[in-house]
Amino acid sequence: MSKKMHLGWFMNFSRSTAWNGPWVLESEAREWMNGDYHIDWVRSMERAGFDFAMLEDSSMVSDGYGGSMEADLKYSLYAPKGDPLSIAPVLAKATSNIGIISTASTSFYPPFLLARSIATIDHLSGGRAGWNIVTSSEDRAAQNFGLDKLYEHDERYERADEFVEVVEKLWGSWDEDALVMDRETGTYVDHTKVHPIHHRGKYYGARGPLNLLRPPSGKPVYCQAGGSPRGRQFAAEHADTIISAAQGIEDMREFRDDIRARMLRAGRNPDTCKVMFITMPVLGETQADADRKYEEMKHPTKAGVDVALGHMGALTEIDFTTIDVDKPFPELTTNGHRTTLEKFLKLGRTPREAAGNWSIRYTDPTFVGTPEKVASEMARVFDEVGGDGFLIAGGGSRRGITEITDGLVGALQQLGRVRTSYDSDTLRGNLMAF
Ligand SMILES: Cc1cc2nc3c(=O)[nH]c(=O)nc-3n(C[C@H](O)[C@H](O)[C@H](O)COP(=O)(O)O)c2cc1C
Repeated sequence: MSKKMHLGWFMNFSRSTAWNGPWVLESEAREWMNGDYHIDWVRSMERAGFDFAMLEDSSMVSDGYGGSMEADLKYSLYAPKGDPLSIAPVLAKATSNIGIISTASTSFYPPFLLARSIATIDHLSGGRAGWNIVTSSEDRAAQNFGLDKLYEHDERYERADEFVEVVEKLWGSWDEDALVMDRETGTYVDHTKVHPIHHRGKYYGARGPLNLLRPPSGKPVYCQAGGSPRGRQFAAEHADTIISAAQGIEDMREFRDDIRARMLRAGRNPDTCKVMFITMPVLGETQADADRKYEEMKHPTKAGVDVALGHMGALTEIDFTTIDVDKPFPELTTNGHRTTLEKFLKLGRTPREAAGNWSIRYTDPTFVGTPEKVASEMARVFDEVGGDGFLIAGGGSRRGITEITDGLVGALQQLGRVRTSYDSDTLRGNLMAF
């Protein structure tokens, strides 16, 4: 029997569909912050058996494009955006099987606060919480936390290593049987089973213990997306699932094989981490319908070019308005998203060309066609890469969501390549089921 694939969705607690596009209610384009749209979205995913919803995050209004917030706000690139750790409990209580992964940055959170939040969500959801461990990549975000600029790239991962160590010590500071509820002695929690951690490291200090019972999953699921050698090493040492923007089958295979080799060297079983490749399928009723949508995406308007360069500017802190969009790229470096910049530079000779290819090539191979055709293409790519699954990108109208959850996943179910019912009611249980 063919191997099944895992599915996640790269979700944002922001306006996730073109507010002025088709199939969008005026009221919803304005009021998505009330959470109703996101509840419907995650329920659709759960109906389709997704392993998890991954709530992305950033914490800034960017002025990386031309030194002005105009592009960010006009096209709502990075703002407005709600806090993933605040919507996660709402989504958790509206569902019963799907995992809810929240992005939180080790560069900005104190470990105690984050350990407590994630443990709380794990309790609220009965073991379905996950943490997307990011180190952040923007000075503009750092400036919202009292820093002048971000820590240097590799140092961010050194800090993240220690951050994870502290969080795990805090989760482990309550023995599993600390809650005794002994009526005879009138004891709710046995104090001998709760332990201060007395952590004093290079970057962090926490006395502990956590002021909450151990999370039901013991250790909530770690998601990671590092692409640089240092980022990959961090992910291989810690992650239960890795989300990757590798482009092309060769690149995808290389990435997954490298992660698996790094895991072996770190003493981990490579099957305990699922590598998920981001993809944005373009679906249509007919092939011609899908091809037409794809052609439109390939030839963006001036706004489309601004959006692509505005995104890149925010992620890399390179002001693309100072570079001639029609001349070959000059030498560019960043202390932000290094791998994202490298990939972007490969998308075209000039910024305009790269921007034109960005929306589609960012997720290469791009799957274009009817749900049946895309399902069989995804299965072929999955088999050639060796695993483990896909992370759907793009939000969209309810229609767009349903095209994926009922159309595409329906077709994948017909092929027997995804689950038709959940294996477990915990996130780790579902991730590790196959
Ligand atoms: C699919 C995907 C999703 C990501 N989501 C986020 C996110 O929500 N927030 C964030 O700060 N960074 C996010 N990142 C960036 C990564 O955390 C990481 O900084 C980036 O891939 C660069 O890798 P490096 O840090 O190893 O250079 C994402 C990256 C990828 C590929």
